[in-house]
Amino acid sequence: MKRILSGIKPTGAPHLGNYFGMMKPAIELQSQGEAFYFIADYHALTTVRDPQAMRDNTRGVALDFLACGLDPKKAVIFRQSDVPEHTELAWILSCVTPMPMLENCHAFKDHVARNQVPVHGLFAYPVLMAADILLYDSNIVPVGRDQKQHVEVTRDIAAVMNRTFGKKEPLFVMPEASILPQMATVIGLDGQKMSKSYNNTVPLFDAEKPLRKKIMSIVTDSTPVESPKDPTHSSIVALYRLFASEGDVATMEADFRAGGQGYGVFKQRLFDALWEHFRPMREKRAELAADPSYVDGVLRDGAERARAVAAKTMARVRLATGLR
Ligand code: AMP
Ligand code: TRP
Repeated sequence: MKRILSGIKPTGAPHLGNYFGMMKPAIELQSQGEAFYFIADYHALTTVRDPQAMRDNTRGVALDFLACGLDPKKAVIFRQSDVPEHTELAWILSCVTPMPMLENCHAFKDHVARNQVPVHGLFAYPVLMAADILLYDSNIVPVGRDQKQHVEVTRDIAAVMNRTFGKKEPLFVMPEASILPQMATVIGLDGQKMSKSYNNTVPLFDAEKPLRKKIMSIVTDSTPVESPKDPTHSSIVALYRLFASEGDVATMEADFRAGGQGYGVFKQRLFDALWEHFRPMREKRAELAADPSYVDGVLRDGAERARAVAAKTMARVRLATGLR
């Protein structure tokens, strides 16, 4: 039985990039192995400074995930900080992790480029992520392309640990990133990668008006209404392709090439399709949100199941390292 694991930070409302890059593939995998999905609040704490936002977003991400089809009977869903073994293992791993390995990480370098003084937690982020993955002997890690390097660092750290402390038998399982090529990087409203930190996201469950406004704000070129348009580089078509049928995509592409319709018309078509696509999930979310104790119960139960596995791994690691 394969172990599948992934995490998402409670840094804001999950968006189309999160959904198509990670949540949907993760939900599809939940029946194909033992799945563990968690809300990475320790990771979010590297940037979030508003405690109420952290609490609200943690609950919001759990709700979104459940509304989208995560089934707590099949998958374990939990809050990372409910399982303190994550931080214990992170420390142990950090004791064998070469600094240059972390200095090389794109996510860290990008952050340094955008912010002046990086906090230590941001530098150590990939070590905590390695702990998340190795703690559960995970085989498969469904993520978007931006996390590929972090999973590679995890494999490197696992290899060092196995070489150092796993001479008789390997201490850790080698995880594999699972990245769907067509969903690897979902682009945002401005044509860059969709990301909460670029302010270009399409949240899954915004109300109708703000969502329509976001879709209408997709950046386009200034091709006049009557002229033919190029669908190959259009963010509108790229977003539509995420969930529309092949036939509908082909129709939109043909209409682009034909000319005679402005971008506003295509944006409206994208919005309508998106609104319909997420309708059942939106309805499910409203149902689940009506009973706040439901989500709390799911997370509590998930934490218990996750901790049982984490405790076993930690006993093995403490023994292998001589801490016991
Ligand atoms: P985060 O919100 O950074 O915790 O991301 C959670 C998951 O969503 C990770 O697996 C990311 O790789 C994935 N993800 C985030 N943004 C995108 C995007 N624009 N395209 C594809 N996957 C994404
Ligand atoms: N770093 C991931 C992100 O930003 C979230 C994450 C934390 C994660 N720990 C993980 C993903 C372990 C997969 C496995 O999206």
